[in-house]
Amino acid sequence: MQPWATLVGVITLLLAAPDVLAVKSHDFKTCSQAGFCRRGRALSARAAEAGTKWKSPYSVDSSSISISSNNAVFTASVKSSIYPEIHFGLELRVHEDGVVRVRMDEVNGLRKRYDEAASWALIAEPKISQDITWTTGKKDIRAKYGNNEVVVAFEPLTVSLLRGGKPQVVLNGRGLLHMEHFRSKKVEETKTEEAAPQAEEGVEDQVAADQIVLKTEEINPAAWFVGDKEDDWWEERFSTWTDSKPKGPESLSIDISFPSHGTIYGIPQHATKLALPTTAGDSPFFTDPYRLYNADVFEYLASSPMSLYGSIPILHAHSTDSTVGIFHAVGSETWIDVSHASEKSTETHWISESGILDLFLMPGPTPADIFAQYSALTGTPVLPPHWSLGYHQCRWNYVSTDDVRTVQRRFDEEDMPVDVFWLDIEYADEHKYFMWDDKNFPDPVEMTNDVAANARKMVVIVDPHLKRTSNYPAYQEASDRKLLVMPASGEGEFEGWCWSGSSSWIDFFNPNAWDWWKSLFKTTALKSGWSWTLSTTDIHIWNDMNEPSVFNGPEISMPRDNVHHGGWEHRDIHNINGMLFSNLTSKAVQERTDPPQRPFVLTRSFFAGSQRFGAMWTGDNLGTWEHMAVGISMVLSNGIAGMSFAGSDVGGFFGNPEPDMLVRWYQVGIFNPFFRAHAHIDTKRREPFLLEQPYKGIIKDILRLRYTMLPIWYTAFRETSVTGVPVLRPHYVMFPKDPKGFALDDQYFIGNSGLLVKPITSKGTIETTVYLPEDEVYYDYFSHHVYRGAAKGKDITVKAELDQVPVFVRGGSIVPTRERPRRSSPLMKLDPFTLRVSLSKAGSARGDLYLDDGVTYSHEKGQFVWREFTAQTAKKTVRITTRDLGVEKKAEAVDGVALASYNPSNVFAETIKEVRVEKIVVEGLSGKPSSVKTEGGEELVWEFAAGVAANGKGEGVASVLTIKDPRVLIVKDWAVIIQL
Ligand code: NOJ
Repeated sequence: MQPWATLVGVITLLLAAPDVLAVKSHDFKTCSQAGFCRRGRALSARAAEAGTKWKSPYSVDSSSISISSNNAVFTASVKSSIYPEIHFGLELRVHEDGVVRVRMDEVNGLRKRYDEAASWALIAEPKISQDITWTTGKKDIRAKYGNNEVVVAFEPLTVSLLRGGKPQVVLNGRGLLHMEHFRSKKVEETKTEEAAPQAEEGVEDQVAADQIVLKTEEINPAAWFVGDKEDDWWEERFSTWTDSKPKGPESLSIDISFPSHGTIYGIPQHATKLALPTTAGDSPFFTDPYRLYNADVFEYLASSPMSLYGSIPILHAHSTDSTVGIFHAVGSETWIDVSHASEKSTETHWISESGILDLFLMPGPTPADIFAQYSALTGTPVLPPHWSLGYHQCRWNYVSTDDVRTVQRRFDEEDMPVDVFWLDIEYADEHKYFMWDDKNFPDPVEMTNDVAANARKMVVIVDPHLKRTSNYPAYQEASDRKLLVMPASGEGEFEGWCWSGSSSWIDFFNPNAWDWWKSLFKTTALKSGWSWTLSTTDIHIWNDMNEPSVFNGPEISMPRDNVHHGGWEHRDIHNINGMLFSNLTSKAVQERTDPPQRPFVLTRSFFAGSQRFGAMWTGDNLGTWEHMAVGISMVLSNGIAGMSFAGSDVGGFFGNPEPDMLVRWYQVGIFNPFFRAHAHIDTKRREPFLLEQPYKGIIKDILRLRYTMLPIWYTAFRETSVTGVPVLRPHYVMFPKDPKGFALDDQYFIGNSGLLVKPITSKGTIETTVYLPEDEVYYDYFSHHVYRGAAKGKDITVKAELDQVPVFVRGGSIVPTRERPRRSSPLMKLDPFTLRVSLSKAGSARGDLYLDDGVTYSHEKGQFVWREFTAQTAKKTVRITTRDLGVEKKAEAVDGVALASYNPSNVFAETIKEVRVEKIVVEGLSGKPSSVKTEGGEELVWEFAAGVAANGKGEGVASVLTIKDPRVLIVKDWAVIIQL
């Protein structure tokens, strides 16, 4: 078959399924279309109407309080005055790092609520503090630790986290806590003594169904709280679908207030600003709450609280005084209303469809503390393979092995660097992933080897829907082993429609699926079953459609009453589902080799903890300026929620960007942690080599700029992999006390490098303003122009013509780059470094550089190089020197491994022992040096261009000293002395 024949096939498929292409907002529920959300919002409306008369019916039974022998865990019974016969259990525990975990569940209920969300998100059971003393009073119980205090008030039940006596987080302060208890379905009450209605299918309690009560309407004394009707308790319809809801109502509503914090961030993924706009209160920005329900939203809006592909239920609440955070380990659909009673406070209301209350209150008090606290719970982002920080070239689809070879050749002819070529779903025969379409991809291993010959990789898509056909081993083996998600009946295989037609989905909640899934990725033949022998270890994986996307399902996903391992309904675990798929795929790729190698897996769907397994992207964005801009705030938001390794489709997935837009999109892309161009199957080809000049040349320079900066990115990833502080740092993270930066989400810093970036995301722009948050110098990265900030912050205006992207170096930084253009990043391994020393006003600077083999886990055994560079000015001498952070900070060099020893001559360090610093550029010196020498050495070769001094007052081009070949090595200690 010709390549175009495949395309025709795909287009026919798409046309045959018009609803796939027609998905618009109305295919997804609003809050008022989701029974539990409607009930939750109605509860909050009744509370607002009642005003001060409103009282939460939930209270702690003080006689039930029990404190564990080590004093750290407090448990008590909770009662609701409107359902006195129902029992709830409350548990509070304080972790070693001050995080408070608050859990509440129904006790001895008719059924069990899903309580396993945390077990998928957390890396380990958190360690409990040994320093807690609970003090029980008449009205409350409290524990003080450090400057923090946690107080549980009995009636009504509230939980407050205080710092310095001031409330930071308050649960149920507005009285919106409501855990709908399990109950039996009552049969319709009738007003006359006519024949009783038949029990409907799905009625759980047949006994109750048989005991028909013939009575007139009762007054419901609880109506003030729960409303006066059973609103979609036992069945729910949306569009053409009916959700059988066999367990009945089980939603959870909780208000979480931040009385001292006026700005909040987080709960990705939404296409909106980083500082979350309101959804409730007076004149809300959005009228619906933020929704967390992983969904494949076709042509999503660039500004909306609608759900997108992933969900991370974490919030940061921020003020000039402190940052606090909350993480709710809940896997079911969740809606979150946001309002501000005052500029200095925030109220949120969380409404989840099912699950227990499992809240982690993170006391901060700095953003860095929150990152540490959240990382201790869910893990830090993975240190990715180094090559995956290069440029990824993707489209739907490169249509044959020769197409891939041609694209590679064209990049090389134009001297454009690229590390990875991607294959979308059309490589797979009938969309049976792993199975090559052997007409167009007759030689996949040879193709991969041709790519690998240039030290490049391939990424190939593997989606979770398995075509239901016996000639597809992945499906047949999963079916034989009973590893597939079940329909509502709890028997057999759920069948839905996706790219591969009639399909079924692996149930990754079933542990039996894990080893089997991993075995499929082995590149060698196995006795136990099928494996992907027509692949090589240079192929890495793209997991798409894992929300899961089901074309003929409700909201383009699985029916909520589908059944997973353990009998749990899909509704209970929906938001976790996508993470398990990419988790297992990443383990599969990692374990293909012995010893294991670092996997690269891109996922579209994600949950809290997904940062441990790979990268994500923002899905099917549109080729519009609005989408380009919102992509930046989405990536920032993902970063603060743990998923640093993120990016948006460069060029926009849909549409045919004009060349100027494409240029701007590449400028955005090189400053995303994950940098991939991708395009829909209906778009025109737009690989950078296809453009006319000057656009082609501009994009080539942009690609090369990314490659020169790879040492900065990799060093930033190391830090993130250890501390959790994101790779892209918004202003509030860098300058938490500067309120002018709280809403900024169009400029940000890269790691701790000192680079400040403001990509341009509007057409025809020739200049822009950039906010400088401090009284420090900032250098234009390209022109060395010095700008001066101010203690109260200052906007500067800078040029931003099409070939210019505003990038600045914060005074006080030393930035390592590699300036030699190469075809792909592994070929840069032995290239020399340039160190750019950007002096602060005080004449100092620092920076670090982390390197390892970028592929294996040998860094965990101490095989890496981690250097710090510093510059100090004393009298008339500037001394630039370096020290070995591997030696100094071995215990914190590598995530999860406290190295006891570090050998500076380790195996990796030896491989780069000849690598030189080829140039040192010092900007901002106060005058022309009289001499520049290495310590104890000869005069070096240098040039000086006079200009503005960092410690002066002027603006304009900085003085620049260029030291050529200082004859120093990257792995050795040395000092360069500049005599002024
Ligand atoms: C949807 C993904 O979001 C998109 O990136 C991909 O190209 C298509 N699926 C086809 O696989």
